[in-house]
Amino acid sequence: MQILYIIFMLILFGATVFILFDIIFSMIMIRVPSLSSNKFVIKKIIDDPYFKDIFVQGKVLYDLGCGRGMALFALTKKFPVKSTGFEINPAVLLYAKVKRLISGSKVRKNSKIKFGNFFKTDLSKADIIYLYLFPEIVEKLEEKIKKECKTGTYIICNTFCFQNMEPIWTYFIAKGSLKNIYVYRI
Ligand SMILES: C[S@@+](CC[C@H](N)C(=O)[O-])C[C@H]1O[C@@H](n2cnc3c(N)ncnc32)[C@H](O)[C@@H]1O
Repeated sequence: MQILYIIFMLILFGATVFILFDIIFSMIMIRVPSLSSNKFVIKKIIDDPYFKDIFVQGKVLYDLGCGRGMALFALTKKFPVKSTGFEINPAVLLYAKVKRLISGSKVRKNSKIKFGNFFKTDLSKADIIYLYLFPEIVEKLEEKIKKECKTGTYIICNTFCFQNMEPIWTYFIAKGSLKNIYVYRI
């Protein structure tokens, strides 16, 4: 009985440290919470016929700031793409790595999770980039994406959009809605 109590307390302690680290790192170090994409947005991308011609066989998908891998793994499970998620927060990175391992063979085979700052990542190999980030980061990334991405690359922005590019497709619910989707093409 005492052993069970000790195990329970250790798990509780570990989970508390993990959650506190995630919150402190997200809010103080990078100022972006590790919130996952709204399930509605992921389902929309998976179900809407528009995306079937984008997520085609062998295309390379990047999720810049993949968090827990919610969007990345769902898209990799559905479409025949090769995906990579980039994440800077070690707590959510660990979560995403574990989740990848238990997500089934298709996801394990076709996805990678990399630790690092996406501002230091070369984006030239991506065919599709998925972004769910704060406006000031999206604004900075717009410049990098325009400089590095090859012609034809699709950018899918969830909620916050680019300021100097016209989307080629939108799913707009309301200003500030977490369900808005914007698609751009370089
Ligand atoms: C709002 S979450 C989005 C998670 C995931 N893309 C999704 O849609 O479910 C944004 C993530 O971006 C990560 N992030 C922010 N700036 C980053 C950077 N410069 N390099 C790598 N990851 C970053 C944060 O740690 C956070 O986990």
